[in-house]
Formats: sequence, structure tokens, C-alpha cells
Amino acid sequence: MNGEFLPYEQAVIPVEDRGFIFADGIYEVIRVYGGKMFRAEDHMARLQRSAAAIRLPLPLSTSNLLQAAAELVRRDGLDEASIYLEITRGPAPRTHTFPAEVRPTVVGFARPVSAPAPNYIENGASAITLPDERWLRCDVKSVGLLLNTLAKQKAVEQGAYDALFIRDGYLTEATSSNAMAVFGGKIYTHPLNNLVLPGITRKVVLELCDQLGIPVVEEAVPAAELVRADEVFITGTVTEVLAITTLDGRPVGTGKPGPIFRQLHAAFVRYSRGQ
Ligand code: PDD
Repeated sequence: MNGEFLPYEQAVIPVEDRGFIFADGIYEVIRVYGGKMFRAEDHMARLQRSAAAIRLPLPLSTSNLLQAAAELVRRDGLDEASIYLEITRGPAPRTHTFPAEVRPTVVGFARPVSAPAPNYIENGASAITLPDERWLRCDVKSVGLLLNTLAKQKAVEQGAYDALFIRDGYLTEATSSNAMAVFGGKIYTHPLNNLVLPGITRKVVLELCDQLGIPVVEEAVPAAELVRADEVFITGTVTEVLAITTLDGRPVGTGKPGPIFRQLHAAFVRYSRGQ
């Protein structure tokens, strides 16, 4: 935190930190496989993009940030982990305008994490659809995640694993993952614009599709078409690649993870662990 490695209990944020008061901050979650950060450069590029979007000059270089993150993983002795990094506009007396002198808060921690349980890979997970009531800058990795948490909570309370957001009749993404649907052997996924996060896992999966010759169409899927999808799956740093086999209580395709998911999941595991 702010240049120091501290015992967890000592890493304390002032109550008027703008991250706490206004959700005035950005974050990244980076996966560690075998002690090494996965696609760290992509995460840093997105962090820089998010920082620019909220007009927050980064107080340190991304290479220094990555060094600190690597050191964190080393000190915690973690092989399989997620690293959470957050940068806020720092503490200041509460007023909406930016402080005259910004002292950003930079904090990071690592947690042990494991791949989704084999049962999820084997059978897939269930999801519900919910209206996407989030703001119109979902491309920014902002810590303002209240609508995401409310949607995930609703899904879990209804016995589902996740929620898929529908905006103006089209599938955007999931609560902490991007979403893809398969129709006739082609993958459809929302184009990168203000309505979805430019996911690093999405990017990796599209690269794998290219290598495997799986056609991809970056077009939003109408929610009404989802009942006819052969496959639906979600992608994310912690989720990896996960099939959605039940949607709003109805089976997707055969109700089992489909062939395209299986091919991509295997390729993703090989690639992420092989690095
Ligand atoms: N979530 N969409 C949303 C809304 C997300 O929050 C995330 C990531 C993604 C997938 O992006 P990536 O593949 O780069 O992880 C898509 C992180 C993991 C989280 O909030 O925990």
C-alpha cells in the first residue's frame, strides 16, 4: 500500500478516501498461474486506459506496479492466486470536485484462488438474465460495482451462478465476465464499446479462436435469440471460460457444455498453464 508491504491489518484507508466516498477509483484483477502473472501487460494497458478515462494520472509507472505485484506474490508464497490492484483519487475532505493536490491511494493484495470446480467444467453453470441498469461507461474498470453486485446477489438468491445483462434487447456481458454465444458454429460476442469491459480473457479467447479457426462475429446477440443459441459461455480472469448450460431455467442447446466451449476451454487451460 502506497509503496510499502504491510501486514494485512495495518493496511488501512482513511475514511475520506475518495475511493470509499465516491467510488472514485479504478482496479484490475490479475490471475497468477504457477507463480507468474498471466497477461500482465494487457492488464496494465487497461489500467492506464481506465485511469485516463477518470482523469487520474497514475502515480507510478506500470513497470513499478508490476514489480510490486510480483513481489507481493513472492512474499505471500502463492502459486495460484489473484492479485487485486486498486488506485483511487486518494484522501481529501469530501467535496465533489477533485482535490487541488491529489495523493492517490495505491493498494494491492493477493489471494489464493483456484480454477472453477471440475463439476462446473463438466456440467456448466446456470444464469438468469437481468436488465443492464449500469452506467454507460462499462468499458472503464471502475470500482463502482454496486449494480454488478446486486445482479450477482439476485442470481445466487435464485439458485443461479451468475446473471447476464440485457440492455435495449441485447446481451452485453455477465456481472464479472464477458459473454459469448454460439450459433451454427460461429461465436457472437458484444463489440468493444462503452457497454462492455474490454476483457483480457475475452481477448485471449478470441486469439485462440483465430488459431483454432473458429469464426467470431463481434456483434451483440438479441436477448430473444438466446433461447436458440447452441452454446453460451462466459470469460473472465477468475471465471476463465465457463459454459452457461441453463439460462432462465431452460437448457441452453443440449443442456451440456458444447463442443466449441470444450475446445476453447482446453486451449485456454493449455495456454494459461503453459506460459
Ligand atoms: N471482473 N466484465 C466485467 C463487468 C468484469 O468485471 C470483468 C472482470 C470482465 C472480464 O474481464 P477480464 O477477462 O479482463 O477479467 C468482464 C474481475 C475479474 C472482477 O471484478 O473480479
